[in-house]
Amino acid sequence: MAEEKKLFRVIVDNIPVDVEPGTTILQAARLIGGEVAPPAMCYYTKLKGSGGKCRTCLVEVSKGSTADPRPMPKLVASCRTTVMEGMEVKNITSPRVIDARNGVVEFLLLNHPLDCPICDQAGECHLQDLSYEHGKEATRYEFGKRTFEKHDLGPHIQLHMTRCILCYRCVYVADQVSEGRAHGILSRGDHSEIATYIEKSLDSDFIGNVIDVCPVGALTDKTFRFKNRVWFTKPSDAHRHCDKCCGKVTLWQRGEDVLRVTARKDQWGEVEDWICDDCRFVHKKASDWIIEGPTQVNRHSVISQGHYVGMRKPKETISEVMGGRAPKLLMDIHSVSEVNKPDVDLGALPGPATSAVFNKEKS
Ligand code: SF4
Ligand code: FES
Repeated sequence: MAEEKKLFRVIVDNIPVDVEPGTTILQAARLIGGEVAPPAMCYYTKLKGSGGKCRTCLVEVSKGSTADPRPMPKLVASCRTTVMEGMEVKNITSPRVIDARNGVVEFLLLNHPLDCPICDQAGECHLQDLSYEHGKEATRYEFGKRTFEKHDLGPHIQLHMTRCILCYRCVYVADQVSEGRAHGILSRGDHSEIATYIEKSLDSDFIGNVIDVCPVGALTDKTFRFKNRVWFTKPSDAHRHCDKCCGKVTLWQRGEDVLRVTARKDQWGEVEDWICDDCRFVHKKASDWIIEGPTQVNRHSVISQGHYVGMRKPKETISEVMGGRAPKLLMDIHSVSEVNKPDVDLGALPGPATSAVFNKEKS
């Protein structure tokens, strides 16, 4: 008879969970799920060695173990600390943790530009979410933010070093997922920057995955840059036969146009299966794919705004409130607006409308 595995009982935010020895506090908290799971900006389950860099996952260990119940004196990084039998952990129930997390977010934002309105990552940026939850309305930092030139990393990826939080995830992807490492972090401290050694292009078949693992908008897909806001697109699960990867992706469409192809992600925002650059950058026609159905999007995500599957159209109530009569006048915004000209078909534009579109029509 197979020997029964010994499990450790851990309590996170007063909720018990049984996990195997060697499990980290973060993984144990993720088993419980919801808000109990600490945020993680650098840890990535699929990347060996990740974690321990950003400190967003700090938690309080109020009881070390059954054998040694003393609390740990300092907050610990939950992605790097393994559980013990009888351990008790506080995440959202600890004011110390919340205070420390506020401080970590303030640090992360010291050099990060607040350019969400023009950043492609807006709407799916983990730092943006954290700033809403823990950010301050003003900075106490008196110095200028670090600035860098934009770099092209190969033909399809652009690096905005100004937005990078040095989580190292992309370095691990370059190291562990793609062949031949031509990318790493140069210099120390405030001068640290992601670099390809002398701008060598990263032309491995799987390097596009660095875009998916980047928790902020530092690594962007040049085939999607500025094409659309993510919440205006409709994500669907799709697949194709691919010799290099699993071929299972998420297509981000607007109308029939495929604006972006990404790997599928789980509830923690981590890639389920790495995809190749052919699938990601080359196959941008809906006819290249077999569409399986709409991607499950967390209803709290801004992306679910444009995700109309399962949405019920509200009942039209005008005639009801008018005692059964049809409305006499429905204002057509086009006929009175100086901005949205009726002869400009907004739906046919390749990207968001700008003043240039309307000015061109005028001339
Ligand atoms: S570029 Fe993105 S993934 Fe790479 S270290 Fe910076 S924040 Fe992390
Ligand atoms: S996720 Fe644990 S330190 Fe970054």
